[in-house]
Amino acid sequence: MRNIIEFNEGWRFFKTDEVPSALPAGWEAVTLPHTWNAADGQDGGNDYWRGTAMYCKAFDRPDLEPNGRAILEFLGAAMTADVYVNGRHLAHHESGYSTFRVDVTDVLGDENLLCVAVDNGANDRVYPQKADFTFYGGLYRGVNLITVPAEHFELVKDGTPGIKVTPSVNLKNQAAIVSVETWQNGSGPVTVTVAGEEKTVTPKDGRACAEFLIAPVHLWNGPDDPYLYTASAKLASGDEISTRFGCRETWFRPENGFFLNGRPYPLRGVSRHQDRQGMGNALTIREHQEDMAILREIGANTVRLAHYQHAQEFYDLCDENGIIVWAEIPYITEHMSNGRQNTLEQMRELVVQNYNHPSIVCWGLSNEITASGAATEDLMENHRALNDLCHRLDSTRPTTMAHVFMLETDSPLIDIPDIGSYNLYFGWYLGGLTQNDRFFDEFHTKFPGRVIGFSEYGADANPQFHSSAPERGDYTEEYQCVYHEHLLKVIGERPYLWATHVWNLFDFAADGRDEGGKKGVNQKGMVTFDRKLKKDAFYLYKAAWSGEPFVHICGRRYADRAENTTQVKVYSNQPSVTLRIDGRVIGTKAGKTVFTFDVPLTGEHEIEAVSGGCRDKITLRRVAEPNREYLFRKAEVVNWFDKEDYKPDCYSVKDTMGALMHNPRSAAILGKMMERMSASRGDVAKSANGNANLQRMMAGMSLESLIKQAGDAVPAEMVKSLNAALQQIRKD
Ligand code: GCU
Repeated sequence: MRNIIEFNEGWRFFKTDEVPSALPAGWEAVTLPHTWNAADGQDGGNDYWRGTAMYCKAFDRPDLEPNGRAILEFLGAAMTADVYVNGRHLAHHESGYSTFRVDVTDVLGDENLLCVAVDNGANDRVYPQKADFTFYGGLYRGVNLITVPAEHFELVKDGTPGIKVTPSVNLKNQAAIVSVETWQNGSGPVTVTVAGEEKTVTPKDGRACAEFLIAPVHLWNGPDDPYLYTASAKLASGDEISTRFGCRETWFRPENGFFLNGRPYPLRGVSRHQDRQGMGNALTIREHQEDMAILREIGANTVRLAHYQHAQEFYDLCDENGIIVWAEIPYITEHMSNGRQNTLEQMRELVVQNYNHPSIVCWGLSNEITASGAATEDLMENHRALNDLCHRLDSTRPTTMAHVFMLETDSPLIDIPDIGSYNLYFGWYLGGLTQNDRFFDEFHTKFPGRVIGFSEYGADANPQFHSSAPERGDYTEEYQCVYHEHLLKVIGERPYLWATHVWNLFDFAADGRDEGGKKGVNQKGMVTFDRKLKKDAFYLYKAAWSGEPFVHICGRRYADRAENTTQVKVYSNQPSVTLRIDGRVIGTKAGKTVFTFDVPLTGEHEIEAVSGGCRDKITLRRVAEPNREYLFRKAEVVNWFDKEDYKPDCYSVKDTMGALMHNPRSAAILGKMMERMSASRGDVAKSANGNANLQRMMAGMSLESLIKQAGDAVPAEMVKSLNAALQQIRKD
């Protein structure tokens, strides 16, 4: 019989790389899951503690059958781990996001000391090393001790589940042929059961294979019917394993996108990082379940589980809820010539450990891997190796990539994976909203045979900030709504986009950030980091995707309005909405998703939206002066152009980057400024070096707009002196 003993209690923790010979009494007592960056990884400054820390736990010899084995299972040790039992080094593992297992049988005594050195320090070979999220360290998922009889299913190699199920669906016959493979250390017969049918097979070279016919087959069919079967396997020794699986057919078409079970099924959804305010990435099943409930509420049918392997609990929840998943490894932002082996190991573990999940439909090779440099031959080779590995491990799913918006659309890198997607931030980091439309139209026209998706798009919003004249970079909820309303339209007009993923469903920790009034957080989420507040834009997508009737009035946090007439926006999936002020009907509008009303304000008012049985209420107040608490940039933007000494025939920050780079003197001044601008993700200037595509895009941008997007990275004093210097240069 197999026993799984949870090993999450009774650990001692200390930041050291010294392996103790006895359980140190003075160390901090911790319970798993645990991360040592729960606090400093989310407070900004990019100074969270990274290095090697030690976890120790004493345990007694487990009961074993004759010649039985004891296997330690680590569900998440970030980023690398070294396992010692009774002082013996037994394993080294280099991936912060996958499961790994260690056979400890031969070193066991009656009493044992388990020590795990976990390291999240910087290096040049284990991904991720450069990205817009906190690299939390710790044993942040669980640890188990598994005991198995002498003859047992494979556990250690690649952290495998030991069983692999490949359904092949024939939609016409409504049938599926299900192949079940198992790996075990003995040569005894294996009894496999699927859908009530039992077959006994003899393994060959450690692998057994049994085939089943299911007819009629009950398809795994998305949130409406995520039907799951179970495959189980048993040995004469009593060792038994099982896995759930789903029968579905997926197609990816260049002209009309994704199909599920033979019908068009545009994947419209969001991305998710696995961390949470105050907890870091040390989540319990409760947090995973809450995140899934929010995902179901918004009505997404897909989730991109970025940028690494997520917990089994969440892939399981996606299987159970019919949510289609883009899974990926953290090969991200910057290619490392010493990192190829690590990408292959992480991809092998991702595929082997998650192959049976029906929710997963593709394997992501990398994310924005050319953001820091060109696609070198070494980088291309790394991708070809990953692509081949995925195809060898899994002939049923395509590979994909998330390309950075600067990557030339004719780059040979794009032809390596089977399908692809782009991360675009036009209308947030740079440029205008309609550049998103143009980008995909040009791409699809130029490459009609390519399957293309929209893997990231988003705009930061701090629920504290508001404006009746929202604009790019103001971090208001209102601009986030304007942005997503436009992008929702872009997506709706382009059915060939196989998948679109809002970046991001939740705010998440990026300790290097300090913008939008919050340190250490990326605020592109539709929901705040603590999951307590759904921003207005959440309800735009709920109105577009969810069938649950509702009305939502935007702007409840923008109560003080310094205007006689204010626009009130309502998101709803109902065909018409009636708006009342203090009980009096303002108007009824028929429409779809977005309903806007002009509302006169004289004092404090109750605003109510009604549609059928749905209603929502907010309070608005007419105030004399704008509430400055709503402003992200409290300091008035220097309006030096009103001054009498402004010389229109000379350069200034109002000029475009193209014009300023054209004149050698202003170009020199600009060069100095680029160095000063922060290295924040918002600073596209920095990544423009050597990137012709991006430089072309930036040429049309005014220097002022680039400075604005860099936020506090360019202090007002510096802008003034920069402008004064440019004003000394007569225009060409
Ligand atoms: C990139 C990147 C994300 C990042 C996002 C952002 O596209 O893939 O990891 O968080 O941009 O800047 O918000």
